Amino acid sequence: EHFTSYPEGLVRGQPGGFVCSQEYARHADELLNFQPRGDDVWIVTFPKCGTTWTQELVWMVMNGCDKEAGKQPLNIRSPFLEFPYLASTKMQNNSSQMTKMISVEMVEKMPSPRVIKTHLPLYLLHPNLLDTSKVVYVVRNPKDVIVSFFYHHKLIKIHQYNGTMDEFAQYFMDDELFYSPFFPHALEAWARRSHPNMLFLFYEDMKRNLRGEIERVANFLGKTLTEQQMTALVEHLGFENFAKNESVNFEVGKDLGFMNTEGRFIRKGETGDWKNHFSAELNDRVDKWIEKNLEGTDLKFVTEF
Ligand code: A3P
Repeated sequence: EHFTSYPEGLVRGQPGGFVCSQEYARHADELLNFQPRGDDVWIVTFPKCGTTWTQELVWMVMNGCDKEAGKQPLNIRSPFLEFPYLASTKMQNNSSQMTKMISVEMVEKMPSPRVIKTHLPLYLLHPNLLDTSKVVYVVRNPKDVIVSFFYHHKLIKIHQYNGTMDEFAQYFMDDELFYSPFFPHALEAWARRSHPNMLFLFYEDMKRNLRGEIERVANFLGKTLTEQQMTALVEHLGFENFAKNESVNFEVGKDLGFMNTEGRFIRKGETGDWKNHFSAELNDRVDKWIEKNLEGTDLKFVTEF
């Protein structure tokens, strides 16, 4: 009842009870078979973990920090693989301009080296992906992901969420939202973190030490940045500049009509924002949920700053 605009409803697929649109479900095999290339870089994330930030970072490192070429919209330079199938057919009518912008065929034909964004978990991508392409996986502590995803569901019209934060957090924990469930997504990547083609990043580390994380990305991609390029890139990726940067901030979504005018995609960019949103009782529930899901694993999230 809190999602007034899912006319066809969401579907829960297998494996993992993955939640997606009907349209994605119809195309899941096509994306599972989407051929990775040896010189691709894939940015794989659960939504709201710092995808856009990392995409721009990776694109810049791959393209010699070319600010001029970087003025092209990020979604053109670094396409969002499953985007054309995100909305159900009916929803697509509302955002057809956007879905026409990039198709899976266009990504297939894109010249190398491609920098591809996807929120699909590894188990729904080509089984040879990691043995073929470089993968940068970014994760963020789930408390801040919940808060960020809540605002996202208010911002993007196809979600049109009108419930409270508390209710939203429960939907998240019940694995009811787009791209749910969160933990299998993160844990599968975490299990592969030592694969030579995998770089596993935390949003919190990028906030704490952006320069250091850029260096790690550059090393991973076999690129060297001059001191000047590094300084400029740290500046370029800083929250203030990023929020103003029209090639990455998606403000265009407001003109295209798929985003509400209130709110921003590059919203706050802080760690620990959950403290401004969770009641003590909700925090307790979330803590228990995290603890249960991380039991027996060595993945740890930092939630106190
Ligand atoms: P908040 O909603 O907490 O502000 P994604 O790109 O995966 O959708 O992630 C979006 C989140 O990353 C948003 O979090 C957004 O503000 C944050 N973000 C984007 N660019 C950032 C930057 N340059 N520095 C810090 N956070 C950034």
